[in-house]
Amino acid sequence: MLPGHNHRRYGKGLKYFTLSFSNIVVADPNYFHGEHTYAMLAIGWVAAPSVMRRKYILSSNITLHYLRECRSFPRAAPGAHAGRVRRPTADKTSIGLTFRPNLLPSALMPPAEVKLEYDTKGMPFRRLGSSGLRVPVFSLGGWLTLGGTVVGDPVKDIIKTAFDNGINMFDTAEEYSKGKSEEEMGRVIKELGFRRSDLVITTKIFWGVRPGPNAGGLSRKHIIEGTIESLQRLQLDYVDVIFAHRPDPNVPMEEVVRAFNYVIEKGWAFYWGTSEWSARDIEEAHHIASKLHLIAPVAEQCQHHMFHRERAEKEYSPLYKHYNMGTTVYSGLAMGLLTGKYNDGIPEGSRLATIPQLSNTAKNLQSEEGLAKIGKVRKLTELAEKELQCSVAALALAWLVRNPNTSTVILGASSPQQVVDNLKALEVIPKLTPDILEKIEKILDNKPTPFPTNSRPPLDFFGRL
Ligand SMILES: NC(=O)c1ccc[n+]([C@@H]2O[C@H](COP(=O)([O-])OP(=O)(O)OC[C@H]3O[C@@H](n4cnc5c(N)ncnc54)[C@H](OP(=O)(O)O)[C@@H]3O)[C@@H](O)[C@H]2O)c1
Repeated sequence: MLPGHNHRRYGKGLKYFTLSFSNIVVADPNYFHGEHTYAMLAIGWVAAPSVMRRKYILSSNITLHYLRECRSFPRAAPGAHAGRVRRPTADKTSIGLTFRPNLLPSALMPPAEVKLEYDTKGMPFRRLGSSGLRVPVFSLGGWLTLGGTVVGDPVKDIIKTAFDNGINMFDTAEEYSKGKSEEEMGRVIKELGFRRSDLVITTKIFWGVRPGPNAGGLSRKHIIEGTIESLQRLQLDYVDVIFAHRPDPNVPMEEVVRAFNYVIEKGWAFYWGTSEWSARDIEEAHHIASKLHLIAPVAEQCQHHMFHRERAEKEYSPLYKHYNMGTTVYSGLAMGLLTGKYNDGIPEGSRLATIPQLSNTAKNLQSEEGLAKIGKVRKLTELAEKELQCSVAALALAWLVRNPNTSTVILGASSPQQVVDNLKALEVIPKLTPDILEKIEKILDNKPTPFPTNSRPPLDFFGRL
């Protein structure tokens, strides 16, 4: 019982209350696990309207349970407000009651027919940074491939192969193939009849799908409009994680943090993250979130592979320690280079042969730097085949997962076979002994120098602070 609340009897000994000056947490009984609180009631209610008396009971302390069955919730389109009483902003001083829209209950209802049950197939899971979300160490992404070079049934084959082999996390972005990636992914998720709660879906907002002064970036306008459009293309009520695909120096950080907080409050995403933000920008976002009691980013989607290490292994190292930041790392095979497929030129049909905007990357392979990388790939191939009986691709991917700061490695694949081949990395992870890791370092010769420790030795092999 809270002082200042006027409780009355409701039915068989249950109580509802009229409300006075306090903050009240409203929870849906079907999702009431403590953290699934639905809304904050702001100060200022003197008496509950009669409509509320019928709908809420007081069950314990300050928790109000919504009496309606989830199944009777009207299904709301993304963007629609479904609560009876609305509050226009997340500002704590507003008067009124806001509900998370009715998206979650209906979204979590099983599809008409669940055609595919999820089996982890032994896939290891990690927490995504500081969040409670568990992600598979290998996920699958759609940049350039799904909805781009691969469309129609082959997309379904790739996603189904991944799912059948334990991958339940799929990454896309509003910008990938100008929205086609999200469309294809959404179509396939529906057609394959996955249970939504089995999946972890991530998308990213920044570049938009069309030109226009407000059609991209991280303004509140684009974050919110972009999210709604992404959900429509994906035919989903929510994504699990939404990323800011790049930093936007032209938008105040408070606006960015508030907008992602709003997206989460609306139920359109559970968590938010950053992609290719500097450590300084991520720090600023955390600072603002902490100061204003808003939701902070939980993960960074960064490029990380054997030839690209500085940011993930050095610049972010304080963030792993201070914020337990997670990473969903991309281009783990350096777009195919670490499979050895470019050792003797550019094969027909490969990414570097088919994507015009990568023509410079293709050309650079013939530069001194490019040839040096190919030389290292050859040496790594020898190590992988002779000492570990695996492909160089499996070695390169296992090496990423071996890093404790990696939450998930997002695979890219243009065929189902590539997914199967790359998942062989799971068998290689336990074989990466300190001795093998040293041999890899010797070949790569590019380990980032750790921040100075003033003669105190680093704590472990990865140079964590
Ligand atoms: N946040 C960001 O800014 C950002 C940027 C880039 C990517 N990402 C995410 O990360 C995901 C993965 O990135 P990525 O596609 O660059 O990853 P990647 O693993 O470095 O490259 C994947 C490509 O390499 C080739 N490949 C993969 N496995 C192979 C194998 N076993 N044998 C031969 N070739 C193989 C395939 O290309 P071909 O067969 O076509 O040659 C495949 O599409 C993306 O889909 C996206 O979700 C995010």
